[in-house]
Amino acid sequence: MHIHAYEKLWLALSIVLILALIGTVTYGAVGPGVAMVADSQSTIDPAALDEDERFSEPRVEQVGENEYEAYVVARQFGFQPDPIVVPANSTVTFYVTSADVIHGFEVVGTSANTMVVPGEVSEITVETDEPTEYGIVCNEYCGAGHHVMQGKLHVVS
Ligand code: CUA
Repeated sequence: MHIHAYEKLWLALSIVLILALIGTVTYGAVGPGVAMVADSQSTIDPAALDEDERFSEPRVEQVGENEYEAYVVARQFGFQPDPIVVPANSTVTFYVTSADVIHGFEVVGTSANTMVVPGEVSEITVETDEPTEYGIVCNEYCGAGHHVMQGKLHVVS
């Protein structure tokens, strides 16, 4: 049987999708923070964030024409900066760390979701398109104020 190259491509793509799905399910079963950022975490002293050049002033910085880096600190019970303001149609890499306990950093309604562990810097890159506003929530139980730990991500033109 002859298979057109185009069909082969779709076959390959569907296999990739199936593997990705299995990977997602497996990841979910293993628990958060295991597979997602294995090679995109670095270590940091959570007690010395105010001496760290990235996190002493949580902020968004332009690093290229359409490229930005956001340095975000999670602590009981909020995120800094708040709101996080980034331009539309750009690539934004978030570096997120915790000043105290384990938190989550989830941009609601997107795939951007990572665990934030004291002593580690979680790196997560997103592409923005249209100007809009997102909520940011903490999805790891972190204490009495966990359920009110929220932030905002503003994508502006
Ligand atoms: Cu921070 Cu839950």
